Amino acid sequence: MDAVELLMIDHSALRIRSEKNDFIDMMGFRAFLMDIHVAIEEKVVFPELVLLGDNEAKKTVDSLIADHKLLDKLYSNLVKWKADENPLYEQRIPLFYQTLTFHNSQEEKLVFPLWKKLEPEKNRDDMKASLEIIESSGLNVYMKETGVSPEMIKYIEQ
Ligand SMILES: [Fe+2]
Ligand SMILES: [Fe+2]
Repeated sequence: MDAVELLMIDHSALRIRSEKNDFIDMMGFRAFLMDIHVAIEEKVVFPELVLLGDNEAKKTVDSLIADHKLLDKLYSNLVKWKADENPLYEQRIPLFYQTLTFHNSQEEKLVFPLWKKLEPEKNRDDMKASLEIIESSGLNVYMKETGVSPEMIKYIEQ
């Protein structure tokens, strides 16, 4: 497995979650999305994609990073509205999930395919760096939010 395949597993979990239009654990979801998924993209995967791609790919990556900031802001609003029992919380969840799943599909369509050009050695290092981000930001939260099992983590660590 490589780092982009791992990100696409996250996207699959997020597509299923988005159909339910709710969150199991507001803080856990944020940790998974921003501290793990987005951190792997911005620290490990996007810098490689920029090197592998052309100027167009660089522009796409910049706009994906801008989406991350927007998603973080939208999510912070949801957290605040939930705490305040503001009806906007329920009303804006679909918009949040639509924005997120569209963003994820754009990543899969526009830049992730470049990953196939990466050298196998770099691929291994990047997978290791990705697992380190998961472990340092919270393996339990990651497993809870994605449905990934401890056995799968062990398997991909080998
Ligand atoms: Fe992203
Ligand atoms: Fe993503």
